[in-house]
Amino acid sequence: MDALVSLSKRRGFIFQSSEIYGGTGSCWDYGPLGVELKQNIKRVWWRDYIQRRPDMMGLDASILMHPTVWKASGHVDNFTDPMVDCLECRRRFRADKIDETPWVHHCPATKGNKFTIPAGEPCSHCGVTRTPVEEDASLTYLRPETAQGIFVNFDNVLQSMRRKLPFGIGQIGKAFRNEITPGNFIFRTREFEQMEIEFFVNPLETVEGRPADEYWHERWIEDSMAWFRRYGLGEENLRLREHEADELAHYAKRTADIEYRFPIGWSELMGIANRTDFDLKQHAKFSGKALTYYDEERKEHVVPYVIEPSAGVDRALLAFLADAYREEEVRGEKRVVLRFHPELAPLKVAVLPLLKKREDIVRTAHAIRDELSKDWSVVYDDTAAIGRLYRRQDEVGTPYCVTVDVQTVGDQAKGEVGDGKVTIRDRNSMEQIRVPLEALGSVFRELLGGAAWASVAGRFERKGDG
Ligand code: GAP
Repeated sequence: MDALVSLSKRRGFIFQSSEIYGGTGSCWDYGPLGVELKQNIKRVWWRDYIQRRPDMMGLDASILMHPTVWKASGHVDNFTDPMVDCLECRRRFRADKIDETPWVHHCPATKGNKFTIPAGEPCSHCGVTRTPVEEDASLTYLRPETAQGIFVNFDNVLQSMRRKLPFGIGQIGKAFRNEITPGNFIFRTREFEQMEIEFFVNPLETVEGRPADEYWHERWIEDSMAWFRRYGLGEENLRLREHEADELAHYAKRTADIEYRFPIGWSELMGIANRTDFDLKQHAKFSGKALTYYDEERKEHVVPYVIEPSAGVDRALLAFLADAYREEEVRGEKRVVLRFHPELAPLKVAVLPLLKKREDIVRTAHAIRDELSKDWSVVYDDTAAIGRLYRRQDEVGTPYCVTVDVQTVGDQAKGEVGDGKVTIRDRNSMEQIRVPLEALGSVFRELLGGAAWASVAGRFERKGDG
C-alpha cells in the first residue's frame, strides 16, 4: 500500500485533500493522471452496461433528496449507532465498540477517556451525513448510496421510456457516509463515488426454471466478475463471498460480495444484492404513490423485484492500480511499471523526440501529438534522455511510446532524406517496431482497440528493445 500511496502522489494520481493545511481525515483528491484513470473506469462501465445493453438505461439523480426518502429506505432507523468523539485525537468511535465494558470509555488511540459526550450518554449519530442545517424543518441528507435516486424515479423511467420487465437503470455518482473507521487510502472514505445498477424483474416469472430474481442475480454476479477480469484484475485476486444470514442488510434476500485481494487483504470490491420488492414497497408506502408494473399477460399489477450490482469507483480504481503495479528487473535495474489495460491507462501514447535540439525532430513530434490527441490522451515529453523518459511512462502505465529520431526526418546538412518512420515501443514487452508516419493512426486504432501487440508488431520492421 505504501508503494501505491507514494507513487500516486509522486506521479500525479492521488493527493491528500487540503494537504497544505495538514490534510483532512480520509479525503483524497485525484490529480491529473488519477482523474483520467477514474474517468476511464466510469466510461467503460457506462459504455458496457448502459450503452451496449438494450435492457439498460442511465440516470443522474440529485445528491440531495426529500428527507423522507431516507426514512422510507430504512437508513435513518437502521444505520444509527451511538457514537462518541475522543477529545484528544478527534476520532469518532462507536460507543459500544471502544471498550470491553460498555460505557467505560478508553480511546483505542490515545487511551484517554475524555469524549464529547459524558460516559453513559452516547450521542446518536446516524451513518447518513446531514448537510448543515439551522432548523430541523430544512433537514436534508447527503445520500449514502445512489440507489434511492433510482427507486424514486422508477415510475418516471418506466412511463417515459415505455419499458417492459426486465430492465435496469444505472447511475454513477457521489455518496457520503459517516464511516466510523475510514482509512486505508481510498479504500474507505466519507465521500466516494458509486456505479450502481437497479435491475427490475418480474417476480411472477421464471427463467430457465428458476424464479426470475434468482436467475438474474446469478447472471449479474457472473457478469460483474467477468467485467473486472476483462479490465485486468487477476483471477487469483478475485473471489466471491456470500453474506451470512446475520449480516444481510435489512432489505436483502441474498447478497454476494466480489472480494479483491487488496494490499490490506481480501476485502469487498462490490456487492450484488437481491433487494426484493422492499424499496419500491417502502417508497409507495411513504409517498402514497403506486410503484408497480402492469403485467399484461397475467392482467395484474406487480411490484418488481430488484437485483442491485453496486460497485465503488474509488475502490475499483484502487484494485486496478494494485493489480497493475509491478516491480521488475530489467538489465540489472529496477523498473516500476503499471500494466494497466489500455482502455484504463490515463495516457495512451507518449511522443518523445530523441534530440530536443533538432527543430525538425521536435516539430514532427509535436505534429504527431497534435494528430493523435484528436482521438486519445497523448503527451509530449522532452525533459530527459530517452531511457529515463521510457521509465517515466512505464511508471504511469502508458501502453505505447512513439520516438522521433534522425532516421525519421533525415539530415539536411548531410543531404540525407528521412525514412518517414517512427519507433513505437510497447510498455509490456519493451519491444520496438518502425512504423511509417501515415500508418500511426490505424496502428493505434488496432492496438488501443484491443489487438495483441504481437499480431500488429509482426507486420513491421523490428528494432531492439527500448
Ligand atoms: N446500494 C447498495 C450499497 O450502497 P454497499 O455495499 O454499502 O451497498 C456498495 O456499497 C459499494 O460502494 C461497496 O462495495 C464499495 O465498493 C463502495 N463503498 C461503500 N462504502 C464505501 C466507502 N466508505 N468508501 C469507498 N467506497 C465505498
